[in-house]
Amino acid sequence: MNGISRLATVISLASLFPLHALAADSKGAVEVVHWWTSGGEKAAVDVLKAQVEKDGFTWKDGAVAGGGGATAMTVLKSRAVAGNPPGVAQIKGPDIQEWGSTGLLSTEALKGVAKAENWDGLLAPQVSDTVKYEGDYVAVPVNIHRVNWLWINPQVFKKAGIDKAPTTLQEFYAAGDKLKAAGFIALAHGGQPWQDSTVFEDVVLSVMGVEGYKKALVDLDQNTLAGAQMTQAFTELKKITAYMDPNRAGRDWNIAAADVINGRAGMQMMGDWAKSEWTAAKKIAGQDYQCVAFPGTEKAFTYNIDSLAVFKLKADRTGDIAAQQDLAKVALGKDFQKIFSINKGSIPVRNDMLNDMAAQGFDSCAQTSAKDFLADAQSGGLQPSMAHNMATTLAVQGAIFDVVTNFMNDKDADPAKASAQLASAVKAAQ
Ligand code: GAL
Repeated sequence: MNGISRLATVISLASLFPLHALAADSKGAVEVVHWWTSGGEKAAVDVLKAQVEKDGFTWKDGAVAGGGGATAMTVLKSRAVAGNPPGVAQIKGPDIQEWGSTGLLSTEALKGVAKAENWDGLLAPQVSDTVKYEGDYVAVPVNIHRVNWLWINPQVFKKAGIDKAPTTLQEFYAAGDKLKAAGFIALAHGGQPWQDSTVFEDVVLSVMGVEGYKKALVDLDQNTLAGAQMTQAFTELKKITAYMDPNRAGRDWNIAAADVINGRAGMQMMGDWAKSEWTAAKKIAGQDYQCVAFPGTEKAFTYNIDSLAVFKLKADRTGDIAAQQDLAKVALGKDFQKIFSINKGSIPVRNDMLNDMAAQGFDSCAQTSAKDFLADAQSGGLQPSMAHNMATTLAVQGAIFDVVTNFMNDKDADPAKASAQLASAVKAAQ
C-alpha cells in the first residue's frame, strides 16, 4: 500500500467520530501544531504568534517537541483520526499532497488571501506547486532552509591549529583529526534518525554529485541506490561517524549546536535552523562562527521549505476560519518574512526579497544562501531534502532512516551490504 492510501485509510476512520469545535473567543482562534521548540525556533514562531494576537485572534500553541517533526506528525495523525485536527499544522513537501488527498485540508480558506496578496506572483513555481493541492493553496510556505551546511567555530579551529574551513572530504578528515588530537569533539551530532540522515544526504551529495543525489534520493532509482557510488557514500559516512561524539545517542540537534557554540566541538553538519541557536546566543555570522557548504556540495542546495497547512473547519466557525486566513496573510507578508527568517536561520520564500538580501539586513550566511538558491535553481543544483520530508513520502523516508541509522550505530556494518539493504528497503516502502 503506498503512502497516500495508507494515510487515507487511517484518516477515513475520522468520519466515525464527531468533530470537536475549539472553544473560540469572539474574534476567532487558531491552534497551530508545529515542532519549533528550541530557543531559536521559539523566538521565530513567537513572531507569528505576536502578529496574529495583535490582529485580535487567539493563538493556541500546539508545539510538539522533537526536531525534524516525527513526533509532531504522529500527534497530528492521531488527532485527525479522532476527528479533532488543529486549524493549522506544520506539514511539508509531498506530505501535503497526502494530507490533501484525505480531504481534511481546506481548499477554500486560502483562496481569497492568495489572490488578494498575489501569491502566484510572489512564489517560484516549485514552491507554490508544493503547497497547492489540485491547483488550490492548502498551505502557506513560510521560509526556505538550506540543509547542506557545515557550521564551524573558528576559535576552536584556531586552538586545534586549523587555518581554514575544509572544502574537500580529505580536508574535512584532516580537520577532524586535528580537533580530536587537541581534545575537542570534532563533529557535534545528535544520534536521532533524522539527524543521521541529514548527515547521510550531505555525504551522498558530496560523493555522488547532484545527478547521483537526484537519482538515488529523489527518483529512488534502484540501480543507483544499490550501486558502487552509494557503497562509496556509505564508506565515507562510516569515516565521518568516527568523528562524532560516541555519547551522541538521542541528543537533540540544538544541544549538539550548543557544543559548537560553547567551544566544546569544532563543527556540526546541520541545516540552517542551527543558525537560530547562534543568533539566540547573540553570535555574529562570519565573525563568531562560519557557515560553509558541506565539502563537495558547494554547487548544490538541498532545500527544506517550512509550510503551514490549513485544515477544513465547519462553515459556521467563521471566526476561526478568519484566524486561519489572518495567519496565512501575515506569514507571507514582507515584515514577517524578514523577522521570522532572521530568527529562524532561513531565507524568505518571496522572490522579491531573495534578490535583495543585504539591503534588508540579512547576515552573510543568509546572503550566501539566497545567492546560491537563485543560482542553483537555474543550474539544477537545487534539490529537495530527503531527510526533511521534501523528496519522498514519509514511508520511503522512514525506510531510508532505518538503514542509515542502523549502519551508523554498527561499527562492523558493511557499506556494500548497506547499499543493497537501502535499495530493497526503499522498494518495499513504495
Ligand atoms: C526541520 C524543519 C525546521 C527545523 C528542524 C529542526 O524539519 O523544517 O524548521 O525545525 O526540522 O526541528
